[in-house]
Amino acid sequence: MSTSIPRRGLAMAELLIAGAGPQALALSCQLLQKRPQWRRHLRVVDPTGAWMVRWQRQMQAYEIPWLRSPSPHHPHPNPHALRRYAQDQQRMRELEGPYGLPHTGLFADFCRGVVQEFQLAERVQAASVAQIQLGPARPASLQVTLSDGALIQPRRLVLATGMGEPVLPSWVTRIASPYPAEALQHSQTLDLATCHGLLAQHILIVGAGLTSAHLALGALRRGAQVTMLCRRTLRSRPFDADPGWLGPKYLKAFHAEACWRRRHRQVVAARDGGSITPLLAAQLDQMRRRGRLQLHEQGQVQSACWQVGGWQVDCLDGCRHRADRLWLATGHRQGVSQHPLLRQLLDQKPIELINDFPVLTSDLRWPGTNVHLMGGLSALQLGPAARNLFGGLEAAKRIARAAVKA
Ligand SMILES: Cc1cc2nc3c(=O)[nH]c(=O)nc-3n(C[C@H](O)[C@H](O)[C@H](O)COP(=O)(O)OP(=O)(O)OC[C@H]3O[C@@H](n4cnc5c(N)ncnc54)[C@H](O)[C@@H]3O)c2cc1C
Ligand SMILES: NC(=O)c1ccc[n+]([C@@H]2O[C@H](COP(=O)([O-])OP(=O)(O)OC[C@H]3O[C@@H](n4cnc5c(N)ncnc54)[C@H](OP(=O)(O)O)[C@@H]3O)[C@@H](O)[C@H]2O)c1
Repeated sequence: MSTSIPRRGLAMAELLIAGAGPQALALSCQLLQKRPQWRRHLRVVDPTGAWMVRWQRQMQAYEIPWLRSPSPHHPHPNPHALRRYAQDQQRMRELEGPYGLPHTGLFADFCRGVVQEFQLAERVQAASVAQIQLGPARPASLQVTLSDGALIQPRRLVLATGMGEPVLPSWVTRIASPYPAEALQHSQTLDLATCHGLLAQHILIVGAGLTSAHLALGALRRGAQVTMLCRRTLRSRPFDADPGWLGPKYLKAFHAEACWRRRHRQVVAARDGGSITPLLAAQLDQMRRRGRLQLHEQGQVQSACWQVGGWQVDCLDGCRHRADRLWLATGHRQGVSQHPLLRQLLDQKPIELINDFPVLTSDLRWPGTNVHLMGGLSALQLGPAARNLFGGLEAAKRIARAAVKA
């Protein structure tokens, strides 16, 4: 284990949560609703030092007007709380369409209210979990080192650290020619507001998920010419997966499935890669008909080369694109091997993995430890919506129940 972090005095905590995104907020609220007296034993650490900073940043960076998920999906334990808030604030117009998709601003204001209601504003410490050391007992005792060198011995640790590592296609690593940093970016580092000089530029966007659609529309609004390159076809669906996965319709059979491999196949099949909403599909189609957007389906990059101030991109089907900028909207890869803290855990307490996904206990613990996982990596227990707000609520209920019972 690395020794580069300066060690400081040892502190105790009932529960330590790594991450202050919507999933961590959902868990904190569930816990405090059951045990308000636990507030002083709860510690939350996140390098941003505040609640939901990453969430808010990504919504602003891609200029997302409203969420993809319906109004009952949010961090408050009461599913009606967001709708009630919109009513009280006379902001019902900010719940969009038949599912009441919350506008980004409404959702942010509501979440700020949730933080206030549960008196959580001062709970986030600006640090990250850097190391986890397991003791010999069963379940293993825990010693956690923070990025500032502080040592904590929590009774329980919850990793709610979000979406994993950006997917960089293999051709990116084969680019031999030097190019300016802003000429090739993954969506994770893109912010439309700071992309200057897009007028009349040609942007090639790789990927067919909702991020690619928002980035395409943002570039088009700034006068760019856009090509979307999808390795399959651009698929339109209201949600990431069929809404049957947000309730017993499909989850009942999923939970009854004893074979982890079959569960994993169901998760992958239910999401079936990236998709965009019907509304964005219609907006993109309009742009295509106006000649501003080109859609290249069944297209995969073979190689890219930066020459005389622009990209030349050759595809496997023989197509050649020229572009000023390449934007990768290729999503994030989740897996134990992608997560530095989980690699540490695996070294100390090896467990069964299915295609890099951990087989957790039903209360989302890494077996033999008191480390719980939230987010996409709990998908073998929670199903395809594990990484979404819906999954955050399900995970929060299971972990809070286990913590209170213990
Ligand atoms: C653009 C975009 C829009 C989305 N819209 C929706 C939507 O409308 N509805 C929906 O249900 N889902 C949506 N999603 C899916 C989304 O990822 C989740 O809903 C949500 O962000 C997951 O919350 P989280 O708390 O797991 O992760 P995050 O919001 O990513 O929060 C994780 C936090 O962990 C912190 N962290 C990381 N490592 C450490 C560490 N070692 N120690 C301490 N802290 C750490 C990070 O700083 C971050 O603040 C969207 C995703 C994207 C990318
Ligand atoms: N609230 C909102 O409005 C909003 C906005 C943005 C995102 N989101 C949510 O955020 C989550 C992530 O969305 P996302 O669009 O960032 O990621 P995503 O849904 O995972 O989509 C990634 C896309 O990149 C493609 N891809 C991956 N690797 C590739 C490679 N090597 N070469 C070529 N293409 C590759 C995938 O192709 P395949 O399809 O073939 O796998 C997919 O089309 C989703 O849950 C989404 O609903 C919500």
